[in-house]
Amino acid sequence: MDQAYKLRTLVDSAQPPQPRQRMTGPRVIAVTSGKGGVGKTSLVVNLGLTLARKGQRVLLFDADLGLANIEVMLGVTPPYTLYEFLYGDKSMEEVVYSAPGGLQVISGGSGIHELAHLDSTQRQRILELLPFLRARTDFVLVDTGAGISKNVLGFVSAAEEVVLVITPEPTSLTDAYSLIKVLAKFKVHSEARLVVNRARDEQEARQAATKLQVVCNRFLDFNLSYLGTILEDEVVGQGVKEQQPFVLSKPSSSVSRSLNLLADCLIEGKDCSPQAADMFINRLLRLFR
Ligand SMILES: Nc1ncnc2c1ncn2[C@@H]1O[C@H](COP(=O)(O)OP(=O)(O)OP(=O)(O)O)[C@@H](O)[C@H]1O
Ligand SMILES: [Mg+2]
Repeated sequence: MDQAYKLRTLVDSAQPPQPRQRMTGPRVIAVTSGKGGVGKTSLVVNLGLTLARKGQRVLLFDADLGLANIEVMLGVTPPYTLYEFLYGDKSMEEVVYSAPGGLQVISGGSGIHELAHLDSTQRQRILELLPFLRARTDFVLVDTGAGISKNVLGFVSAAEEVVLVITPEPTSLTDAYSLIKVLAKFKVHSEARLVVNRARDEQEARQAATKLQVVCNRFLDFNLSYLGTILEDEVVGQGVKEQQPFVLSKPSSSVSRSLNLLADCLIEGKDCSPQAADMFINRLLRLFR
């Protein structure tokens, strides 16, 4: 018995690791916040680059109409946006452009406004996004604007997963709570994951997260789990100014290591639903009708 047991453990330990289950569609994650300027775009860009370095095929979807957007942070100029895809004769391959670090990016541009009044031809065009997403991406990260506008809520509702960004400032917490209240009240989502950005230290980040988690538990039926912290660090602002995301220009900085942890948690934390891309596209069409 003893010998057989030893053999079995030996054989078991010699087994090659099981390959991760092949994804049949991408994970679609909306990155959002209650208050503006808390670091969503910076997170989307640097997280996207980190996931790409880990071999994931990442598409960044810029759904924010703001100025400091993804292409500015990456230092690239998109030849076309979602608008040309909807109203022009541009194909998906022409509209999705390649950015540094192996990223694929699609810029909503003024196409985001147009989502509210699409005719049947353009709705059909939106559905054509699906095969592209299914075949070419593992992660779709959607950079939404801040707050509870129709646009933001539309993208947040359409995405299967939500990452909520806060800073430890009280106004960021109260605005985040207002957003969660809407998500919970209208049963848009019953859970989200929290990233605390610009904290002085881990303790300050945990305190901010706990405050929000406590009120979400007590007053709303909403599960807010903790995804991670990014500390206040000047390399983030430098990266924005120089259009060189910090995970590329300062790969060994503490914030880059935090992004590495965040990316690992995202990759390992959840099984992918094969329907996430379908859900995203179909809900966008329904919600922006
Ligand atoms: N961890 C950090 N440390 C230092 N500065 C940071 C950090 N995160 C973000 N910033 C600064 O905050 C600014 C705003 O970040 P970002 O544009 O990513 O926010 P946002 O939430 O996307 O804003 P908006 O709501 O306007 O879209 C950046 O230009 C950067 O200088
Ligand atoms: Mg932004």
